Amino acid sequence: MRDGFILSAEKIYKSFRMGAAEVSVLKGVDLAVKKGEFVAVVGASGSGKSTLLHILGTLDTPDRGVVRFEGRDLSRLSAGQLSRFRNKMVGFVFQFYHLLDELSVLENVFLPTMAGKGIIGWFACRGWAKKRARELLCQLGLGERANHKPYQLSGGERQRTAIARALMNEPRLLLVDEPTGNLDSATGNGILNVFEKLNRAGQTIVMVTHDERIAQRAGRIITLADGRIANK
Ligand SMILES: Nc1ncnc2c1ncn2[C@@H]1O[C@H](COP(=O)(O)OP(=O)(O)OP(=O)(O)O)[C@@H](O)[C@H]1O
Ligand SMILES: [Mg+2]
Repeated sequence: MRDGFILSAEKIYKSFRMGAAEVSVLKGVDLAVKKGEFVAVVGASGSGKSTLLHILGTLDTPDRGVVRFEGRDLSRLSAGQLSRFRNKMVGFVFQFYHLLDELSVLENVFLPTMAGKGIIGWFACRGWAKKRARELLCQLGLGERANHKPYQLSGGERQRTAIARALMNEPRLLLVDEPTGNLDSATGNGILNVFEKLNRAGQTIVMVTHDERIAQRAGRIITLADGRIANK
């Protein structure tokens, strides 16, 4: 790992074509995150925060520029290596939770482990995986909710379920997009307490938000404006 950076982005460019027009969203973003940091990226709606987060997590690719994870250029990974990277190294938390309503809360949480294994591999580790999923739910105050369906939960409980799912494979990096965007301020505060506690225990977190007050909860704030990082 170069200079303790777990994640770095160098001169990231990204445009979207909308019919004849091309919209330049990211115009040379540089960003470096140290292991154990809790970084918030703030910026106006439409400034490209989600686009950047998706690129950092390899859910999208930049037009130009390099994203490195623990020093490794992610554009050099094969499709198989990339899906393993996303499954094992990164946990994602989104504004709208993206839970599967057909599955129980517990099943949603252990799904990333199941998805990362073949049938035999899953058979071998499922006892452990279910135990870990239960422990995570208990830590997040959802021990009594394991057998419910996501649609039976409140917004805050759904987001805590999504956080448990993101933590399931012990990711080295948590990427979080407007985690409280759908919640009232007290519930949102509870979610931010969870991230603070995880960070104190060593979890590296990058969170994007348009809300300065939410960003204040992070250890460092960087601002995205006009397609670039405004302060460093
Ligand atoms: N797949 C896409 N196709 C076309 N345009 C896109 C696409 N994704 C994002 N954009 C455009 O890129 C710009 C930045 O979008 P992005 O979602 O990254 O902003 P954001 O900062 O996350 O905004 P918000 O705070 O509202 O979530 C917007 O103008 C958006 O319309
Ligand atoms: Mg967004």
